Amino acid sequence: MKPGWWIKPAVFTASLIPLCAVIWSVVNGTAGPNPIEAIEKQTGEWSLRFVLLSLAMTPMAQLFKSIWPIKLRRMVGLFAFFYVVVHLLAYVVLDQSMNLTYIFEDILKRPFITAGFVAFLIMVPLTVTSNKYMMNKLGKRWKVLHRTAYLVGVAGVLHYVWLAKGDQLEPLVYLAVLLVLLGYRMTGLIKGR
Ligand code: HEM
Repeated sequence: MKPGWWIKPAVFTASLIPLCAVIWSVVNGTAGPNPIEAIEKQTGEWSLRFVLLSLAMTPMAQLFKSIWPIKLRRMVGLFAFFYVVVHLLAYVVLDQSMNLTYIFEDILKRPFITAGFVAFLIMVPLTVTSNKYMMNKLGKRWKVLHRTAYLVGVAGVLHYVWLAKGDQLEPLVYLAVLLVLLGYRMTGLIKGR
């Protein structure tokens, strides 16, 4: 077996733990008085964490001089999409009972929902084109398209910052992480990295 063969299965399994934790808390009644809100919150946060982690993979590969973050980048990005699909389903099916008129109004009227929707829309082509076949087919355009992952980070963080009331610390921590990643990317562009 190749050295490091276990890393991908280990990361895959670890990435499913938050989903198991959400299901477990709902099943055994520890999700709080509003389980739907708890599902929305947990899956939203995990999606954003995976988005930011996927953006951190290239800097990590460069800083630690390791190929592993690059090898894991696609999986981490796909988990961001997986958690956002669960997040969206919780909102559409459980929260809004599939009332599409209301959902459409919500997207137009509430800026934090608009930002989440924009982030989701950008994630769709990124997910569809994340495989080797599309990478080869799109050539140089693939890199340009996948830079929009930063916009997912921006829209995702805005979504969180705008919805948070009162205690604003957590969304601001995500904002700070995003700014560090964007700063690293910008200096990389200047230095030709
Ligand atoms: C159409 C797309 C989306 C819709 C309709 C949506 C809807 C919602 C709603 C209704 C909440 C509030 C839950 C509550 O406090 O009651 C929420 C929270 C959240 N969403 Fe989304 N969302 C969308 C996309 C996204 C995306 C793309 C991300 C991440 C990249 C994301 C991350 C979050 C986070 C971090 C929270 C806050 C969790 C917390 O309060 O701890 N959402 N979303």
